[in-house]
Amino acid sequence: MVLNYEEINYERLLEGYRVLITGGASGIGKETALLFAKHGASVAIADRDQAAGLQTEAELREISPESFLVVADLGRLEEVDRVADLVIERFGSLHSLVNNVGLFEPGFLIEQPIEALGRMLDVNVSGPIRLTQRILPAMFENRNGTLVHILSDYCLRGAPGVSLFAATKGAIYSFSRSIAYEYSRYNIRSNCILPGMNIGSHGDLYIERYGAEEAEADFAQFQPLAGRGSTLDVANAALFLASELSRFVNGDQIDITGGACAKAHKQYQRREEANWRNHVTFLTVPSTEALRAGGLK
Ligand SMILES: NC(=O)c1ccc[n+]([C@@H]2O[C@H](COP(=O)([O-])OP(=O)(O)OC[C@H]3O[C@@H](n4cnc5c(N)ncnc54)[C@H](O)[C@@H]3O)[C@@H](O)[C@H]2O)c1
Repeated sequence: MVLNYEEINYERLLEGYRVLITGGASGIGKETALLFAKHGASVAIADRDQAAGLQTEAELREISPESFLVVADLGRLEEVDRVADLVIERFGSLHSLVNNVGLFEPGFLIEQPIEALGRMLDVNVSGPIRLTQRILPAMFENRNGTLVHILSDYCLRGAPGVSLFAATKGAIYSFSRSIAYEYSRYNIRSNCILPGMNIGSHGDLYIERYGAEEAEADFAQFQPLAGRGSTLDVANAALFLASELSRFVNGDQIDITGGACAKAHKQYQRREEANWRNHVTFLTVPSTEALRAGGLK
């Protein structure tokens, strides 16, 4: 463990780290794997997509030769165990686990088949919990470990059509907090990243469903900042949480939504836009005379 910030190499934040990233073949997982490798980590990726996985493995090895792919369906516990066994065998000990794989099946509650809940529980809850349970002991000897769970802003905000998905992601949000406490004695930290609805495959799905124009207008309603977040926005947060830069951050989360959780409700927003001029005047520091005229001594 680096105890002194002067010892940190900001160009190689994960030098010598051995990490496992689930769903590392594409999307946020791939972005995170490549960024971690650039920062000196050996990266194991676990993914069910063999073709994309082999492509990512080749790209990783050019940067970090010890990196490798395990092909597995992480919605099945026996496969999760196989991944844990293989990665521990190859790496010996681990410094970081990124639980990134997720299954998103949207729908209104009364219309969704209950089987959708089972599928999402397998991939979003049982898989990450089992993998964490198997990987944690391989972190103990390093006295330095980080768990990063890629979840969803729906853990904090309600939205129609995502209740089952939100329930499964919320389970790991709560899980992370208790793990953060339970294994802090080994200097193992557990934190979450909550990407917003327009990032990665979730955003692509939204655009596909509602069209680019309507999607853009919706995104503008959801968040104060303009535009879409990128997979690299999420990977950068994962780098921070996996590295010593976040050594005093534990049981917490980073929300990557362009400020969606700070968003005012619609009525306020309309008023704010209509009275923007007044607002600017209101926000300008008033003169002493104006303050006195207002009764301030
Ligand atoms: N607003 C939101 O809720 C939101 C937004 C963006 C991302 N996310 C979350 O971030 C994570 C990554 O998102 P993404 O857009 O990069 O995902 P993605 O759909 O692009 O998939 C990433 C990878 O996971 C692999 N994968 C999927 N299911 C698997 C399984 N059962 N076993 C093994 N591999 C599997 C895929 O093959 C793929 O390579 C997910 O957990 C997702 O839910 C949430």
